[in-house]
Amino acid sequence: MYQEMGEYIIRDWRIEDAPSIARYANNRKIWLNLRDGFPHPYSLKDAKDFISQAMAIKPASVFAIATKTEAIGSIGFFPGKDVHRFTAEIGYWLAEPFWGKGIVTEAVKRISSYAIHDMKLHRISAEPYATNKASARVLEKAGFTYEGILRASAFKDGEIIDQVIYSLTRIR
Ligand SMILES: CC(C)(COP(=O)(O)OP(=O)(O)OC[C@H]1O[C@@H](n2cnc3c(N)ncnc32)[C@H](O)[C@@H]1OP(=O)(O)O)[C@@H](O)C(=O)NCCC(=O)NCCS
Repeated sequence: MYQEMGEYIIRDWRIEDAPSIARYANNRKIWLNLRDGFPHPYSLKDAKDFISQAMAIKPASVFAIATKTEAIGSIGFFPGKDVHRFTAEIGYWLAEPFWGKGIVTEAVKRISSYAIHDMKLHRISAEPYATNKASARVLEKAGFTYEGILRASAFKDGEIIDQVIYSLTRIR
């Protein structure tokens, strides 16, 4: 994958991305909006492990969001199994200095299109925490449809919280 989005790029991971990812990912504001599998604090080893795992996925489905000089975030889709094998969940995060520039909205559009048209998936969904208005807005701007609230569906930072669910489908 190599797609230019103005001055930003979606591309395959490189192990040399680890230092910038470790620096930007070590941010509680990012961790608070992700699952607990995303470490906090986030070390250089965490970044190397994550990048190695992402690079091993074939066909590739997890990509770096980058400038010309460094990786600044991650976006990927995770296909389901069994009857869910034509669906995937999308996930993403971006380094805080780059928030609010439309980068992830454009990245979600590109990756969803790739997943549906190139990888032949039928449905892409996302389940941000209900408090994550920025992520909900990203999904709306990327053409996803709001499906509802998943009540008391997650336990994050010591609290039981709601998630909202959005999807984009091939047919409807
Ligand atoms: C959510 C996140 C990916 C957004 O990335 P981004 O590149 O800044 O997003 P964009 O610039 O494309 O769009 C953000 C939109 O949210 C809006 N927004 C930001 N904070 C908001 C808030 N607190 N309430 C309402 N809207 C908000 C912005 O105004 C913008 O909408 P607009 O274009 O209509 O003004 C980024 O903030 C991030 O990495 N957050 C932490 C990790 C995370 O939440 N990942 C997603 C888990 S589901």
